[in-house]
Amino acid sequence: MAMIAFKCPDISVTVADINESRIAAWNSDDLPVFEPGLDDIVATARGRNLFFTTDKVAAIKEADIIFVSVGTPTKTYGVDAGRAADLKYVELCARDIAEYSDRSKIVVEKSTIPVRTAESLKTVLTANSNADVQFQVLSNPEFLAEGTAMEDLDNPDRVLIGGEETPEGLEAMETLTSVYAHWIDRDRIIQTNLWSSELSKLVANAFLAQRISSINSISALCEETGANVDEVASAIGKDSRIGPKFLKASVGFGGSCFQKDLLNLVYLCEHFGLPEVSEYWRGVIEMNDWQKRRFSTKIINALFNTVNGKRIALLGFAFKKDTNDTRESPAIYVGKDLLEEEADLAIYDPKVSPDQIRYDLGIEADSSKLDICDDPYEAVKGAHGVAILTEWDAFRDLDYQRIFDNMMKPAFIFDGRNIANRAQLKEIGFEVYAIGR
Ligand code: UDX
Repeated sequence: MAMIAFKCPDISVTVADINESRIAAWNSDDLPVFEPGLDDIVATARGRNLFFTTDKVAAIKEADIIFVSVGTPTKTYGVDAGRAADLKYVELCARDIAEYSDRSKIVVEKSTIPVRTAESLKTVLTANSNADVQFQVLSNPEFLAEGTAMEDLDNPDRVLIGGEETPEGLEAMETLTSVYAHWIDRDRIIQTNLWSSELSKLVANAFLAQRISSINSISALCEETGANVDEVASAIGKDSRIGPKFLKASVGFGGSCFQKDLLNLVYLCEHFGLPEVSEYWRGVIEMNDWQKRRFSTKIINALFNTVNGKRIALLGFAFKKDTNDTRESPAIYVGKDLLEEEADLAIYDPKVSPDQIRYDLGIEADSSKLDICDDPYEAVKGAHGVAILTEWDAFRDLDYQRIFDNMMKPAFIFDGRNIANRAQLKEIGFEVYAIGR
């Protein structure tokens, strides 16, 4: 929304949320989300044509277009817990929109949701509003990746808009297209039917995640055979049919989208009686779980099969670089595995808050099992092993000699992102494990 406001000074954008502290933060100099470039864009547009408010009623009444951008987490309770998407917030939003709208509006689903949610959205909207108020529901999935969100929004590969194939539906799609056309070429704004648009988001994320699981599966084979997974990725990526992106072997993928969307896809296929398709995609999640577990097992095995009472330093806790987001971060899984083996953890991440780390690991503030550090050299002091779990650029240029000097010997390094210089580490005296090498 900030980017739309930034690019379209003639359009007034209001972001409404019932969470007061969050809205207060959006109105302050300390935004609740760390994203390179976001501060500048908000600073330019805020107060001009970008507003943050807790007054959802006024925001709904005034709007011509409403983007529903609420959370759609995986269900944690009841029927289909752990598999289906929890659409509680989407439905509550639809009920609010129906209740407070006194004229016709376009409602855009921005949240990632299972296919055919637009239909439910439309049903709730229509059942709860006056006959003279009409809603056109559009699907407009977001493809930005965290850490590069501003570039992705500024220059997207495509914008996808799904709508009903009726005159009103086509008109609504044109209206939304004209917003994006302020800065994006029309040939990159794709209009489809609702279901294609909804499904495309799940499929895009499933294909991306599948590439990572594919290369990670090969990383295990490389470790057995003496091949180097980065060399294999680079060699196959030169094939223009395969392409070089999303082939970096790692400790596993994280983030709020991949696992959730794969679970949605798996669930949909089961629901529609396609168990073979469902099993196929479930394999992508299973490979990712296995890769994370394989990494913690490597650490434990290398440290003479016991980490009990040993200090292990984790460098990086975010699910990828340039974000403070930890949702589904592999660091959480590795951290929990090590805590279960009674290790003492020392964690350094340049952007994730200590409270978030404690919350994710389920550890009390006064626990001696967890030491959250302000710098990487402090974290490694007296450590038996150090694991690199996020590919922060700063971790490439650390003084690894100083790290080595601070550690117990033999000093083990487990590079879950293949970013450190392996030859240099060996020369210093480290025992090195890197993914797929
Ligand atoms: C993803 C999609 O890329 C984006 O289009 C969608 O809108 C939301 O989900 P995001 O989760 O922000 O974006 O980050 P992404 O860059 O896709 O990385 C996801 C995870 O995969 C990270 O944990 C990352 O470290 C990992 N990854 C990525 C790899 O392990 N190897 C790779 O080659 C690429």
